[in-house]
Amino acid sequence: MPGTMNTVRDLKRMPDVGLLGSFGPSTPERLQFQRQLAKLDVPMARGRILHLSVVFPASPEAAHEVLVTKAKSFEKSPGIRVLLYLLAGQGLFTSEGGLWKRQRKLMSPIFQPAPMHQYAETMRLVAERAADGMRAGQTIDVAHETTRIAMSVVGKALFDVDTFDEADALGGALTTCLSWVNRNLAKPALVAHVLMLDATEALAAKTSGGLSAFFKRAHDKVVEPFLLPGVNDPELRAAAQLLDERIQSMIDERRKAGFQRKDLLTRLMLAEDPELGGRMSDKQVRDEAITIFVAGHETTATALAWSFYLLARHPEHFARAQAEADAFGDGPIEEWQPEKLAFLTRVFRETMRLFPPIMMMPRRTLEEVEIAGTTLPARTLVFVSAYAQHYRAESYPNPDAFDPDRWLPEQEAIRHKSSYLPFSAGPRFCIGMHFAMMEGPIVLATLLRRWRFEIDPTREITEDDFATLRPRGGVQATVRAR
Ligand code: HEM
Repeated sequence: MPGTMNTVRDLKRMPDVGLLGSFGPSTPERLQFQRQLAKLDVPMARGRILHLSVVFPASPEAAHEVLVTKAKSFEKSPGIRVLLYLLAGQGLFTSEGGLWKRQRKLMSPIFQPAPMHQYAETMRLVAERAADGMRAGQTIDVAHETTRIAMSVVGKALFDVDTFDEADALGGALTTCLSWVNRNLAKPALVAHVLMLDATEALAAKTSGGLSAFFKRAHDKVVEPFLLPGVNDPELRAAAQLLDERIQSMIDERRKAGFQRKDLLTRLMLAEDPELGGRMSDKQVRDEAITIFVAGHETTATALAWSFYLLARHPEHFARAQAEADAFGDGPIEEWQPEKLAFLTRVFRETMRLFPPIMMMPRRTLEEVEIAGTTLPARTLVFVSAYAQHYRAESYPNPDAFDPDRWLPEQEAIRHKSSYLPFSAGPRFCIGMHFAMMEGPIVLATLLRRWRFEIDPTREITEDDFATLRPRGGVQATVRAR
């Protein structure tokens, strides 16, 4: 009835896929759930996690309201904060409210396209070095190679260090911390932390005076991941300490040398709020540096690995990709001209449609809000699925087909903006998007010029949705000379 608002109860109920409700026990069930979401002809549906009702926007319009037009009524959900606390503290990915707002404002100018262009040459050089290290006939895991490349690229851009992979002390320490994070995703202890965060927050809001302050302190304490297995492991602690010390000494060195370097660390240290003035504290710079490192390499590496896989399975697109790579040449990139890599850019985009590295954006309502005609009460969990958007046949006819030309400008123009969400949308969209959209095509071109990766066409590779949507077991390939 016009004028009558629906409640969450009125939404279509998605069938459970596991004991937990809407989140299945393993990747195939979780992906299956999102494919069902992609087929819905209603704007939004509901599901559950244990006893909690949760909401899934299905139409691009509903996703757009959550992420963009009504973003003020949402925050990110708290689980990720606990997991990344040890590593990234209060960096941009995990922070909220005033701190996030100030930091985003300080950092946005650094990540605009023009200042990012200076890193194009770094991207090419790192990929070139990786290509130099390969031999014809050798068997490689393409996913492992792209991880090393993406780690080195972000390491050089951030810290201006030349060798940066898991063999280096800093890279090794980061790898140790990251694999701890990966091991603890979806563990019961994490769920316990999230429930405690939720309970202490609710109690702080419901009480007043000293009691409220007590629950607020308890809440701040629960953000620290003390319940997670292995958090006091000496190896993890040593890695975390080494990270702190190494980054602090890089900060000190830059200050002493008068900020000569052009790396992101220097830029973060120099960033100043034009209105309020003031720079970040060293601790904040550290948190942001690690956040950029973490957010900036596995995502890109995964998208690159899938790109090589898809190209290997589609000879017609592969031939075009190679032709473009050859024309790009191997000289220094003095000026970044994206039109020279237009096809590889479309390949990279289409790859992220089929395999969005971050497939889900979890949000929670801060207040009662209306989305697509339904009133969501405060503290409702809302999951925006990039994956579901990317498999909607209304947006992408024949959605399973790999077709880079979907990204020709005239085709792109007719689609709803929020039908493509690999970088999310709205105020919290990926700040590293321009960086990633240069890195993907440049690394593809540099490697494709030199080598062909032969991937057994009969071997179907499936997804693994831990942390990012990775190829399960990597992408085994034989290196062939061009
Ligand atoms: C293909 C590569 C990448 C993908 C698919 C990707 C995806 C995303 C997504 C989906 C979000 C938003 C999450 C949410 O709204 O819940 C995000 C946020 C973020 N990304 Fe990326 N990212 C990529 C590369 C990068 C790079 C290269 C950097 C840094 C150099 C970076 C830094 C960040 C940061 C700092 C945030 C938090 C922004 C905020 O909340 O204000 N990302 N990314």
